Amino acid sequence: MIDIVQGDRVEVEVGQPAHGGHCVARHEGIVLFVRHALPGERVIAEITEVHKGYLRADAVEIRSSSSDRVTAPCRYSHPNGCGGCDLQHASGAAQREWKAAVVREQLARLAGLPDFPVVVEPLPGDGFGWRTRVRYHIDALDRPGLLKHRSNEVVPIDRCLIAHPALQELDVLRRRWPEVDAVDVVVPRNGEAQVVSGQRITEHAAGHDFDLAASAFWQVHPAAADTLVACVVDFLEPKPGESAWDLYGGAGTFSAALADRGCAVTLVEAAGDGVEAARRSLRDVRVLQSTVERARLPERVDLVVLDPPRTGAGARVVRKITAARPRAIAYVACDPAALARDLRTFAEEGWPLKRLRALDCFPQTHHVECVALLTRD
Ligand SMILES: C[S@@+](CC[C@H](N)C(=O)[O-])C[C@H]1O[C@@H](n2cnc3c(N)ncnc32)[C@H](O)[C@@H]1O
Repeated sequence: MIDIVQGDRVEVEVGQPAHGGHCVARHEGIVLFVRHALPGERVIAEITEVHKGYLRADAVEIRSSSSDRVTAPCRYSHPNGCGGCDLQHASGAAQREWKAAVVREQLARLAGLPDFPVVVEPLPGDGFGWRTRVRYHIDALDRPGLLKHRSNEVVPIDRCLIAHPALQELDVLRRRWPEVDAVDVVVPRNGEAQVVSGQRITEHAAGHDFDLAASAFWQVHPAAADTLVACVVDFLEPKPGESAWDLYGGAGTFSAALADRGCAVTLVEAAGDGVEAARRSLRDVRVLQSTVERARLPERVDLVVLDPPRTGAGARVVRKITAARPRAIAYVACDPAALARDLRTFAEEGWPLKRLRALDCFPQTHHVECVALLTRD
C-alpha cells in the first residue's frame, strides 16, 4: 500500500467514467475514483477517502480541461459542496455520453454484452427545474439544505437549480426549521407546490389520475412517468386478452396503460402506500400486496413489466418470471449495474436482451433510467 492519506493531493490524468458519478484514474498503480473531473482531463486530485485497493478523490484544480467542461451553474456544486448533482461541470450532451459509457460498461462487464449500442436520450426541458420532489435536511442551526456526497453533513442552501420552479416559490429555504430533521416538498403534475407530511396528493400519468400518499413512490422528473409508460407499451405491444404482471408496480402507472389496452393485469407491490394508491386509483387491476419473491402468481403469463428498486430483482425473481414463459418482458431499471446482473440471468434462462432505451430522467446527476426488452430466443 502506498503512503497516502486523506487530504493529500496528486496530479493525475483522468480516464473513463465509472458507475457512481466519478472517473477512473491511477496513481502509482492504485485506482482513484475522481469526482468533478471529465475524461481526458489532467487534474490535481485531493484524496477524500483511502480504502484497501482504491482511493476516492475530488478534482480541486483542472490543469488541462476537456472541451465538454462548463462552469457549474449552481454555486453549491463543487468539491466538498452539495452532493446532489455529480455532473453540473459537463454540458448536457457530455452528461448523456458519460451515462451511455457507464451503461455500456456495465452491460459489457456484468451482462457479457460487450457491443450493445447505448444512446441516452434527453427528456423535455433544459435539464434544470425538473425535480418535483425534494427532501431538504435540517442542520444543527435549523437551516434547510442538502447533503454532502457520501455524508450526513448538511450544506445549507438558499436555492436548488434542479428543483422545480414552483418549489422555489415556497418559503422553505428562507425559513428555520426547529425540531425537525427534514422537510419534504412536492409539486404534483397538475397541483400546487406544498410541504408534505402524511397528506395525499393527486398525480397524473398514462391518462389516469393517481390518488397517493405523498410518501408513495412516484417518478421525480415530470416527464418521466409518461415517457417510461410509452416505452414499455411500445416494447411489449400488448394485445387485448393477454395477461400481464406489473411487478414492483407502485401506484400502477404501467398497470393502467396495460389494462387500457385490454390486458388482464396483476400488480405486485410490497409497500402499503403504493398498494393503497393502486387500489384507490385503478379499476380492473388485481393488486397484490406482497414482495415479488413471495407473491403467489399464476403459472403462466403473457407479458411482464418489472421496475425493481436499485438492488435489482435478483436471480430468484428472474427465474420466477421466466418460469411463467412470457411472450415479452420489459425491465425498467434505475441502476445499470443491477440491470446488467439480472440481464445475465435472463439470458442464461433463454430470454436475451433485444432492445434497450436509456433515458436521462435525472439531468445533472449520474443517475440514468433504462428500459430493456427481453424476448425468448
Ligand atoms: C422503482 S419503484 C417503481 C414503482 C412503479 N413501477 C412506478 O413506476 O411508479 C419500485 C417499487 O418497488 C417496491 N418494492 C421494493 N421491493 C419490493 C419487493 N421485494 N417486492 C415488491 N415490491 C417491492 C417499492 O415499494 C416501489 O414502489
